[in-house]
Amino acid sequence: MNDWATSGVDLHLDLAAGTGARVGLERALRDAVRDGRLAAGTRLPSSRALAKDLGLARNTVADAYGQLVAEGWLAARQGSGTQVAGSPAPPRPSRHRAAPEQPGLLGSPAADGYAYDLRPGTSDLSAFPRAAWLAAARRAMAAAPNEAFGYSDPRGRPELREALAEYLARVRGVRADPGLILICSGFVQGTGLLGRALRARGARRIGVEALGFPDTRRILRTAGLTTVELPVDGDGARLDGLGPPHRPAADAVLLTPAHQFPAGSPLSPERRTAVVEWARATGGTVIEDDYDGEFRYDRQPVGALQGLAPGQVVYAGTGSKSLAPGIRLAWLVLPPALLDAVVEEKRSADRHSPVMDQLTLAELIRSGAYDRHVRRMRLHYRRRRDRLVTALALHAPRVRVSGIAAGLHAVLELPPGSPATSDLVARASRAGLALAGLEAYNGPTDGPGALVVGFGSPPEHAFTGALDTLCALLSDRAAGR
Ligand SMILES: Cc1ncc(COP(=O)(O)O)c(C=O)c1O
Repeated sequence: MNDWATSGVDLHLDLAAGTGARVGLERALRDAVRDGRLAAGTRLPSSRALAKDLGLARNTVADAYGQLVAEGWLAARQGSGTQVAGSPAPPRPSRHRAAPEQPGLLGSPAADGYAYDLRPGTSDLSAFPRAAWLAAARRAMAAAPNEAFGYSDPRGRPELREALAEYLARVRGVRADPGLILICSGFVQGTGLLGRALRARGARRIGVEALGFPDTRRILRTAGLTTVELPVDGDGARLDGLGPPHRPAADAVLLTPAHQFPAGSPLSPERRTAVVEWARATGGTVIEDDYDGEFRYDRQPVGALQGLAPGQVVYAGTGSKSLAPGIRLAWLVLPPALLDAVVEEKRSADRHSPVMDQLTLAELIRSGAYDRHVRRMRLHYRRRRDRLVTALALHAPRVRVSGIAAGLHAVLELPPGSPATSDLVARASRAGLALAGLEAYNGPTDGPGALVVGFGSPPEHAFTGALDTLCALLSDRAAGR
Protein backbone atom coordinates (compact mmCIF):
# COMPACT_ATOMS: atom_id res chain seq x y z
CA MET A 1 0.00 0.00 0.00
CA ASN A 2 1.45 3.37 -1.00
CA ASP A 3 -0.02 6.65 0.19
CA TRP A 4 0.35 9.84 -1.73
CA ALA A 5 -0.85 12.98 -0.02
CA THR A 6 -1.74 15.91 -2.22
CA SER A 7 -3.71 18.94 -1.12
CA GLY A 8 -4.32 17.10 2.10
CA VAL A 9 -5.86 14.12 0.24
CA ASP A 10 -4.52 10.64 0.72
CA LEU A 11 -4.85 8.42 -2.32
CA HIS A 12 -4.78 4.90 -1.04
CA LEU A 13 -3.05 3.20 -3.91
CA ASP A 14 -3.21 -0.53 -3.73
CA LEU A 15 -0.40 -1.09 -6.15
CA ALA A 16 0.28 -4.61 -5.03
CA ALA A 17 -3.12 -5.90 -6.12
CA GLY A 18 -1.89 -7.44 -9.32
CA THR A 19 -3.91 -5.22 -11.62
CA GLY A 20 -0.77 -3.38 -12.56
CA ALA A 21 0.56 -0.16 -11.21
CA ARG A 22 -0.87 2.00 -14.00
CA VAL A 23 -4.41 0.64 -13.65
CA GLY A 24 -4.21 0.97 -9.84
CA LEU A 25 -3.08 4.57 -10.11
CA GLU A 26 -5.79 5.44 -12.63
CA ARG A 27 -8.47 3.90 -10.42
CA ALA A 28 -7.25 5.73 -7.33
CA LEU A 29 -7.21 9.06 -9.16
CA ARG A 30 -10.68 8.53 -10.62
CA ASP A 31 -12.04 7.65 -7.18
CA ALA A 32 -10.44 10.72 -5.64
CA VAL A 33 -11.89 13.06 -8.31
CA ARG A 34 -15.30 11.40 -8.14
CA ASP A 35 -15.71 11.70 -4.40
CA GLY A 36 -14.33 15.24 -4.30
CA ARG A 37 -11.08 14.55 -2.45
CA LEU A 38 -9.32 16.01 -5.48
CA ALA A 39 -11.26 19.15 -6.35
CA ALA A 40 -11.59 20.66 -9.82
CA GLY A 41 -8.56 22.80 -10.58
CA THR A 42 -6.19 20.94 -8.20
CA ARG A 43 -2.70 20.81 -9.72
CA LEU A 44 -1.20 17.34 -9.73
CA PRO A 45 2.49 16.76 -9.16
CA SER A 46 4.64 16.29 -12.24
CA SER A 47 4.84 12.71 -13.46
CA ARG A 48 8.51 12.71 -12.48
CA ALA A 49 7.78 13.83 -8.89
CA LEU A 50 4.87 11.43 -8.39
CA ALA A 51 6.82 8.52 -9.88
CA LYS A 52 9.63 9.22 -7.44
CA ASP A 53 7.23 9.42 -4.47
CA LEU A 54 5.51 6.17 -5.42
CA GLY A 55 8.59 4.28 -6.53
CA LEU A 56 7.17 3.78 -10.04
CA ALA A 57 8.62 4.30 -13.49
CA ARG A 58 7.94 7.79 -14.78
CA ASN A 59 6.24 6.37 -17.90
CA THR A 60 3.72 4.51 -15.76
CA VAL A 61 2.56 7.77 -14.19
CA ALA A 62 2.68 9.67 -17.49
CA ASP A 63 0.57 6.93 -19.13
CA ALA A 64 -1.98 7.02 -16.29
CA TYR A 65 -2.22 10.82 -16.57
CA GLY A 66 -2.62 10.50 -20.37
CA GLN A 67 -5.43 7.96 -20.01
CA LEU A 68 -7.32 10.14 -17.50
CA VAL A 69 -6.89 13.22 -19.70
CA ALA A 70 -8.37 11.23 -22.58
CA GLU A 71 -11.29 10.20 -20.35
CA GLY A 72 -11.87 13.81 -19.29
CA TRP A 73 -11.00 13.40 -15.60
CA LEU A 74 -7.83 15.46 -15.87
CA ALA A 75 -6.73 18.33 -18.09
CA ALA A 76 -3.21 18.94 -19.35
CA ARG A 77 -2.25 22.54 -20.09
CA GLN A 78 0.93 23.62 -21.81
CA GLY A 79 3.19 25.13 -19.19
CA SER A 80 0.95 24.50 -16.20
CA GLY A 81 1.10 20.73 -15.89
CA THR A 82 -1.78 18.41 -15.21
CA GLN A 83 -4.75 19.34 -13.12
CA VAL A 84 -8.16 18.00 -12.22
CA ALA A 85 -10.60 18.97 -14.99
CA GLY A 86 -13.25 21.66 -14.48
CA SER A 87 -13.16 25.05 -12.81
CA PRO A 88 -12.53 25.13 -9.11
CA ALA A 89 -15.83 25.31 -7.25
CA PRO A 90 -16.20 28.33 -4.95
CA PRO A 91 -15.53 27.25 -1.38
CA ARG A 92 -18.71 26.05 0.27
CA PRO A 93 -19.57 27.97 3.42
CA SER A 94 -18.96 25.68 6.33
CA ARG A 95 -21.68 24.99 8.85
CA HIS A 96 -18.95 24.96 11.47
CA ARG A 97 -17.99 28.41 12.63
CA ALA A 98 -15.47 29.42 15.25
CA ALA A 99 -17.02 31.18 18.22
CA PRO A 100 -17.00 34.90 17.33
CA GLU A 101 -14.25 37.08 18.76
CA GLN A 102 -15.54 39.14 21.65
CA PRO A 103 -16.75 42.34 19.97
CA GLY A 104 -14.55 45.35 20.06
CA LEU A 105 -11.31 43.73 21.16
CA LEU A 106 -9.20 42.70 18.23
CA GLY A 107 -9.22 44.14 14.75
CA SER A 108 -10.23 41.72 12.02
CA PRO A 109 -12.03 43.79 9.39
CA ALA A 110 -11.99 41.18 6.67
CA ALA A 111 -13.71 38.76 8.99
CA ASP A 112 -16.48 41.00 10.17
CA GLY A 113 -17.16 43.21 7.20
CA TYR A 114 -16.26 46.72 8.39
CA ALA A 115 -14.92 49.20 5.84
CA TYR A 116 -12.59 50.66 8.49
CA ASP A 117 -11.12 49.25 11.63
CA LEU A 118 -9.58 51.34 14.41
CA ARG A 119 -9.68 48.68 17.11
CA PRO A 120 -6.30 48.06 18.71
CA GLY A 121 -4.50 44.76 18.69
CA THR A 122 -2.95 44.42 15.26
CA SER A 123 -0.21 45.91 13.15
CA ASP A 124 -0.79 47.38 9.69
CA LEU A 125 -1.16 44.08 7.88
CA SER A 126 -0.74 45.73 4.48
CA ALA A 127 2.83 46.59 5.49
CA PHE A 128 3.91 43.02 6.22
CA PRO A 129 7.39 42.66 4.69
CA ARG A 130 6.35 39.98 2.22
CA ALA A 131 9.40 40.17 -0.03
CA ALA A 132 11.88 40.13 2.85
CA TRP A 133 10.00 37.28 4.57
CA LEU A 134 9.93 35.26 1.34
CA ALA A 135 13.63 35.84 0.71
CA ALA A 136 14.45 34.86 4.31
CA ALA A 137 12.24 31.75 4.01
CA ARG A 138 14.09 30.67 0.86
CA ARG A 139 17.48 31.14 2.45
CA ALA A 140 16.35 29.43 5.64
CA MET A 141 14.90 26.47 3.76
CA ALA A 142 18.07 26.06 1.70
CA ALA A 143 20.28 26.15 4.79
CA ALA A 144 18.10 24.05 7.12
CA PRO A 145 19.77 20.83 8.22
CA ASN A 146 17.70 17.65 7.80
CA GLU A 147 17.27 17.34 11.54
CA ALA A 148 15.31 20.61 11.52
CA PHE A 149 12.37 18.73 9.99
CA GLY A 150 12.14 16.33 12.90
CA TYR A 151 10.87 16.95 16.42
CA SER A 152 12.92 19.72 17.96
CA ASP A 153 13.79 21.13 21.35
CA PRO A 154 10.58 22.47 22.99
CA ARG A 155 12.38 25.78 23.53
CA GLY A 156 12.53 26.27 19.76
CA ARG A 157 15.25 26.33 17.12
CA PRO A 158 18.70 27.40 18.36
CA GLU A 159 19.11 29.66 15.29
CA LEU A 160 16.15 31.79 16.40
CA ARG A 161 17.02 31.75 20.10
CA GLU A 162 20.55 32.93 19.29
CA ALA A 163 19.34 35.65 16.92
CA LEU A 164 16.82 36.86 19.51
CA ALA A 165 19.35 36.84 22.35
CA GLU A 166 21.57 39.20 20.38
CA TYR A 167 18.66 41.36 19.18
CA LEU A 168 16.94 41.71 22.56
CA ALA A 169 20.19 42.60 24.32
CA ARG A 170 20.97 45.25 21.73
CA VAL A 171 17.51 46.77 21.33
CA ARG A 172 15.75 46.22 24.68
CA GLY A 173 18.62 45.73 27.14
CA VAL A 174 17.42 42.19 27.91
CA ARG A 175 19.95 39.86 29.52
CA ALA A 176 19.24 36.90 27.31
CA ASP A 177 21.02 33.58 27.25
CA PRO A 178 19.75 31.59 24.23
CA GLY A 179 19.37 28.59 26.54
CA LEU A 180 16.79 30.49 28.59
CA ILE A 181 14.66 31.57 25.63
CA LEU A 182 11.50 29.68 24.72
CA ILE A 183 9.63 30.29 21.47
CA CYS A 184 5.85 30.02 21.70
CA SER A 185 2.76 30.58 19.57
CA GLY A 186 2.03 34.15 20.56
CA PHE A 187 2.05 35.58 24.04
CA VAL A 188 -1.43 34.12 24.38
CA GLN A 189 0.17 30.69 24.52
CA GLY A 190 3.03 32.07 26.62
CA THR A 191 0.51 33.31 29.23
CA GLY A 192 -0.97 29.85 29.60
CA LEU A 193 2.44 28.16 29.76
CA LEU A 194 3.62 30.58 32.43
CA GLY A 195 0.38 30.36 34.40
CA ARG A 196 0.50 26.56 34.52
CA ALA A 197 4.24 26.46 35.24
CA LEU A 198 3.86 28.94 38.12
CA ARG A 199 0.91 26.98 39.49
CA ALA A 200 2.89 23.72 39.24
CA ARG A 201 5.62 25.36 41.31
CA GLY A 202 3.17 26.32 44.04
CA ALA A 203 2.01 29.81 43.04
CA ARG A 204 -1.62 30.60 43.79
CA ARG A 205 -2.17 34.33 43.20
CA ILE A 206 -1.01 36.60 40.40
CA GLY A 207 -1.33 40.38 40.21
CA VAL A 208 -2.76 41.70 36.93
CA GLU A 209 -3.34 45.23 35.72
CA ALA A 210 -6.98 46.12 36.25
CA LEU A 211 -7.10 47.41 32.66
CA GLY A 212 -6.20 44.85 30.02
CA PHE A 213 -7.36 42.02 27.80
CA PRO A 214 -10.08 39.97 29.49
CA ASP A 215 -8.49 36.95 27.80
CA THR A 216 -5.31 37.27 29.84
CA ARG A 217 -7.18 37.00 33.13
CA ARG A 218 -9.26 34.10 31.84
CA ILE A 219 -6.15 32.16 30.74
CA LEU A 220 -4.43 32.69 34.09
CA ARG A 221 -7.53 31.59 35.98
CA THR A 222 -7.87 28.52 33.77
CA ALA A 223 -4.28 27.72 34.77
CA GLY A 224 -5.49 27.58 38.38
CA LEU A 225 -4.32 31.00 39.58
CA THR A 226 -6.38 33.62 41.38
CA THR A 227 -5.96 37.06 39.87
CA VAL A 228 -5.39 40.12 42.07
CA GLU A 229 -6.40 43.34 40.30
CA LEU A 230 -3.96 46.27 40.40
CA PRO A 231 -5.56 49.65 39.58
CA VAL A 232 -3.85 51.65 36.84
CA ASP A 233 -3.02 55.36 36.97
CA GLY A 234 -0.73 57.74 35.10
CA ASP A 235 2.35 55.90 36.45
CA GLY A 236 1.22 52.48 35.31
CA ALA A 237 -0.08 49.78 37.65
CA ARG A 238 -0.28 50.54 41.36
CA LEU A 239 1.66 47.94 43.27
CA ASP A 240 0.17 48.18 46.76
CA GLY A 241 -2.09 45.24 45.89
CA LEU A 242 0.96 42.95 45.85
CA GLY A 243 1.24 43.36 49.61
CA PRO A 244 4.33 44.09 51.71
CA PRO A 245 7.39 41.83 51.27
CA HIS A 246 6.82 40.11 54.63
CA ARG A 247 3.18 39.31 53.80
CA PRO A 248 2.83 39.21 49.99
CA ALA A 249 -0.68 39.11 48.54
CA ALA A 250 0.53 37.52 45.30
CA ASP A 251 3.22 35.10 44.12
CA ALA A 252 3.67 36.71 40.71
CA VAL A 253 2.59 39.76 38.74
CA LEU A 254 1.98 40.37 35.02
CA LEU A 255 2.70 43.92 33.84
CA THR A 256 3.04 45.90 30.61
CA PRO A 257 5.81 48.23 31.91
CA ALA A 258 6.87 49.95 28.67
CA HIS A 259 3.35 50.96 27.63
CA GLN A 260 0.43 49.92 29.79
CA PHE A 261 -2.18 48.17 27.71
CA PRO A 262 -4.51 49.87 26.98
CA ALA A 263 -4.05 53.07 29.08
CA GLY A 264 -0.64 53.83 27.53
CA SER A 265 1.31 55.06 30.56
CA PRO A 266 4.80 53.66 31.18
CA LEU A 267 5.52 52.18 34.61
CA SER A 268 7.23 54.99 36.56
CA PRO A 269 10.90 54.57 37.54
CA GLU A 270 9.88 54.32 41.23
CA ARG A 271 7.45 51.52 40.52
CA ARG A 272 9.98 49.73 38.30
CA THR A 273 12.41 49.69 41.21
CA ALA A 274 9.66 48.78 43.68
CA VAL A 275 8.39 45.79 41.73
CA VAL A 276 11.91 44.40 41.31
CA GLU A 277 12.57 44.84 45.04
CA TRP A 278 9.24 43.18 45.84
CA ALA A 279 10.14 40.19 43.64
CA ARG A 280 13.62 39.86 45.14
CA ALA A 281 12.34 40.10 48.70
CA THR A 282 9.45 37.64 48.23
CA GLY A 283 10.92 35.28 45.62
CA GLY A 284 7.98 36.32 43.43
CA THR A 285 7.99 36.38 39.62
CA VAL A 286 7.39 39.41 37.42
CA ILE A 287 6.12 38.78 33.88
CA GLU A 288 7.04 41.71 31.65
CA ASP A 289 4.76 41.81 28.60
CA ASP A 290 6.81 43.95 26.19
CA TYR A 291 4.27 43.65 23.36
CA ASP A 292 5.14 46.92 21.58
CA GLY A 293 8.49 47.86 23.16
CA GLU A 294 10.07 48.63 19.78
CA PHE A 295 7.66 51.43 19.00
CA ARG A 296 8.58 54.43 21.08
CA TYR A 297 8.46 57.80 19.34
CA ASP A 298 9.48 60.86 21.28
CA ARG A 299 12.44 59.74 23.32
CA GLN A 300 14.79 56.84 23.84
CA PRO A 301 12.97 53.66 24.75
CA VAL A 302 13.16 52.66 28.39
CA GLY A 303 15.05 49.38 28.59
CA ALA A 304 13.32 46.21 29.63
CA LEU A 305 12.70 45.65 33.31
CA GLN A 306 14.20 42.19 32.89
CA GLY A 307 17.67 43.73 32.57
CA LEU A 308 17.43 44.78 36.23
CA ALA A 309 16.60 41.33 37.61
CA PRO A 310 16.90 38.45 35.14
CA GLY A 311 16.54 35.97 38.00
CA GLN A 312 13.11 37.33 38.86
CA VAL A 313 11.62 38.70 35.64
CA VAL A 314 10.22 36.78 32.65
CA TYR A 315 10.62 38.93 29.55
CA ALA A 316 7.89 38.32 26.96
CA GLY A 317 8.15 39.68 23.41
CA THR A 318 6.04 39.00 20.34
CA GLY A 319 6.13 39.38 16.57
CA SER A 320 2.46 40.36 16.59
CA LYS A 321 3.12 44.12 16.57
CA SER A 322 6.55 44.29 14.94
CA LEU A 323 5.45 41.99 12.08
CA ALA A 324 1.89 40.66 12.25
CA PRO A 325 -0.23 38.61 14.64
CA GLY A 326 -0.81 35.91 12.03
CA ILE A 327 2.77 34.67 12.31
CA ARG A 328 1.98 33.49 15.88
CA LEU A 329 5.55 33.76 17.08
CA ALA A 330 6.48 35.09 20.49
CA TRP A 331 9.39 34.55 22.88
CA LEU A 332 9.91 34.24 26.60
CA VAL A 333 13.24 34.90 28.30
CA LEU A 334 12.99 32.86 31.48
CA PRO A 335 14.65 33.00 34.88
CA PRO A 336 16.69 29.78 35.28
CA ALA A 337 14.43 28.58 38.11
CA LEU A 338 11.35 28.62 35.84
CA LEU A 339 12.91 27.14 32.72
CA ASP A 340 12.22 23.43 33.25
CA ALA A 341 8.60 23.94 34.32
CA VAL A 342 7.82 26.13 31.29
CA VAL A 343 9.63 23.75 28.91
CA GLU A 344 7.50 20.89 30.27
CA GLU A 345 4.31 22.90 29.66
CA LYS A 346 5.39 23.69 26.12
CA ARG A 347 6.24 20.05 25.44
CA SER A 348 2.79 18.99 26.66
CA ALA A 349 1.05 21.76 24.70
CA ASP A 350 2.49 21.16 21.22
CA ARG A 351 6.08 19.89 21.55
CA HIS A 352 7.45 23.03 19.90
CA SER A 353 6.40 25.80 17.53
CA PRO A 354 6.65 25.21 13.75
CA VAL A 355 10.30 25.16 12.74
CA MET A 356 10.19 26.71 9.28
CA ASP A 357 8.63 29.91 10.59
CA GLN A 358 11.20 30.03 13.36
CA LEU A 359 14.07 29.58 10.90
CA THR A 360 12.62 32.26 8.65
CA LEU A 361 12.35 34.74 11.51
CA ALA A 362 15.90 33.87 12.60
CA GLU A 363 17.13 34.62 9.09
CA LEU A 364 15.12 37.85 8.93
CA ILE A 365 16.77 39.04 12.15
CA ARG A 366 20.24 37.79 11.26
CA SER A 367 20.20 39.51 7.86
CA GLY A 368 19.21 42.90 9.32
CA ALA A 369 15.87 42.91 7.45
CA TYR A 370 13.92 42.78 10.73
CA ASP A 371 15.71 45.88 12.06
CA ARG A 372 15.05 47.71 8.80
CA HIS A 373 11.37 46.76 8.89
CA VAL A 374 10.97 47.91 12.50
CA ARG A 375 12.69 51.22 11.73
CA ARG A 376 10.41 51.79 8.73
CA MET A 377 7.31 50.88 10.71
CA ARG A 378 8.28 53.15 13.60
CA LEU A 379 8.26 56.08 11.20
CA HIS A 380 5.03 54.88 9.60
CA TYR A 381 3.16 54.60 12.92
CA ARG A 382 4.59 57.83 14.21
CA ARG A 383 3.22 59.67 11.17
CA ARG A 384 -0.16 58.08 11.71
CA ARG A 385 -0.14 59.04 15.37
CA ASP A 386 0.68 62.63 14.41
CA ARG A 387 -2.14 62.68 11.85
CA LEU A 388 -4.59 61.38 14.46
CA VAL A 389 -3.54 63.99 17.01
CA THR A 390 -3.68 66.83 14.45
CA ALA A 391 -7.06 65.78 13.06
CA LEU A 392 -8.61 65.49 16.52
CA ALA A 393 -7.19 68.85 17.59
CA LEU A 394 -8.91 70.36 14.56
CA HIS A 395 -12.27 68.58 14.60
CA ALA A 396 -12.74 67.47 18.19
CA PRO A 397 -10.51 69.69 20.34
CA ARG A 398 -12.27 68.70 23.57
CA VAL A 399 -11.24 65.07 23.17
CA ARG A 400 -8.11 64.38 25.23
CA VAL A 401 -5.63 62.05 23.57
CA SER A 402 -3.25 60.11 25.81
CA GLY A 403 -0.87 57.16 25.76
CA ILE A 404 0.69 58.30 22.51
CA ALA A 405 4.41 58.31 23.33
CA ALA A 406 4.64 54.72 22.19
CA GLY A 407 2.81 51.85 20.57
CA LEU A 408 0.11 51.51 17.98
CA HIS A 409 -2.91 52.77 19.90
CA ALA A 410 -4.10 55.86 21.76
CA VAL A 411 -6.74 56.49 24.39
CA LEU A 412 -9.30 59.16 23.51
CA GLU A 413 -10.96 60.53 26.64
CA LEU A 414 -14.33 61.98 25.76
CA PRO A 415 -15.43 65.33 27.18
CA PRO A 416 -18.25 65.51 29.74
CA GLY A 417 -21.65 65.39 28.08
CA SER A 418 -20.52 63.00 25.33
CA PRO A 419 -22.78 60.12 24.41
CA ALA A 420 -22.00 56.81 26.12
CA THR A 421 -19.12 55.01 24.41
CA SER A 422 -21.42 52.07 23.66
CA ASP A 423 -23.57 54.54 21.68
CA LEU A 424 -20.53 55.89 19.84
CA VAL A 425 -19.30 52.39 19.06
CA ALA A 426 -22.76 51.50 17.68
CA ARG A 427 -22.91 54.71 15.61
CA ALA A 428 -19.41 54.07 14.29
CA SER A 429 -20.42 50.55 13.38
CA ARG A 430 -23.34 51.87 11.31
CA ALA A 431 -20.86 54.14 9.51
CA GLY A 432 -18.68 51.10 8.72
CA LEU A 433 -16.03 51.84 11.37
CA ALA A 434 -15.08 49.31 14.05
CA LEU A 435 -14.19 50.98 17.34
CA ALA A 436 -13.53 49.79 20.89
CA GLY A 437 -14.49 51.50 24.15
CA LEU A 438 -12.23 51.36 27.20
CA GLU A 439 -14.89 49.33 29.01
CA ALA A 440 -14.07 46.41 26.67
CA TYR A 441 -10.75 46.24 28.57
CA ASN A 442 -12.33 46.37 32.00
CA GLY A 443 -12.39 50.20 31.99
CA PRO A 444 -14.99 52.11 34.03
CA THR A 445 -18.53 51.98 32.74
CA ASP A 446 -19.58 55.28 34.31
CA GLY A 447 -18.27 58.80 33.59
CA PRO A 448 -17.67 60.32 30.15
CA GLY A 449 -15.85 57.23 28.85
CA ALA A 450 -12.96 56.72 26.52
CA LEU A 451 -12.14 54.98 23.25
CA VAL A 452 -9.06 52.87 22.59
CA VAL A 453 -8.03 53.70 19.04
CA GLY A 454 -5.65 51.41 17.20
CA PHE A 455 -4.18 53.83 14.68
CA GLY A 456 -1.78 51.12 13.53
CA SER A 457 -4.51 48.70 12.44
CA PRO A 458 -5.93 49.99 9.12
CA PRO A 459 -4.14 49.18 5.89
CA GLU A 460 -2.53 52.30 4.43
CA HIS A 461 -5.21 52.89 1.79
CA ALA A 462 -7.93 52.92 4.47
CA PHE A 463 -6.28 55.11 7.08
CA THR A 464 -7.54 58.44 5.73
CA GLY A 465 -11.11 57.13 5.46
CA ALA A 466 -10.93 55.66 8.95
CA LEU A 467 -9.64 58.93 10.39
CA ASP A 468 -12.29 61.01 8.58
CA THR A 469 -15.06 58.74 9.83
CA LEU A 470 -13.72 58.93 13.39
CA CYS A 471 -13.44 62.73 13.28
CA ALA A 472 -16.94 63.09 11.84
CA LEU A 473 -18.25 61.00 14.72
CA LEU A 474 -16.39 62.89 17.43
CA SER A 475 -16.52 66.38 15.97
CA ASP A 476 -17.97 69.15 18.08
CA ARG A 477 -20.62 69.57 15.42
CA ALA A 478 -21.70 65.93 15.63
CA ALA A 479 -21.87 66.27 19.40
CA GLY A 480 -24.07 69.41 19.05
CA ARG A 481 -21.54 71.74 20.66
C1 LIG B 1 -1.11 43.64 25.87
C2 LIG B 1 -0.75 42.67 24.80
N1 LIG B 1 0.11 41.71 25.07
C3 LIG B 1 0.46 40.80 24.13
C4 LIG B 1 -0.08 40.84 22.87
C5 LIG B 1 0.37 39.86 21.85
O1 LIG B 1 -0.27 38.66 21.94
P1 LIG B 1 0.14 37.54 20.87
O2 LIG B 1 1.62 37.45 20.88
O3 LIG B 1 -0.52 36.29 21.38
O4 LIG B 1 -0.41 37.98 19.56
C6 LIG B 1 -0.99 41.82 22.54
C7 LIG B 1 -1.58 41.84 21.20
O5 LIG B 1 -2.52 42.49 20.91
C8 LIG B 1 -1.33 42.77 23.53
O6 LIG B 1 -2.16 43.77 23.25
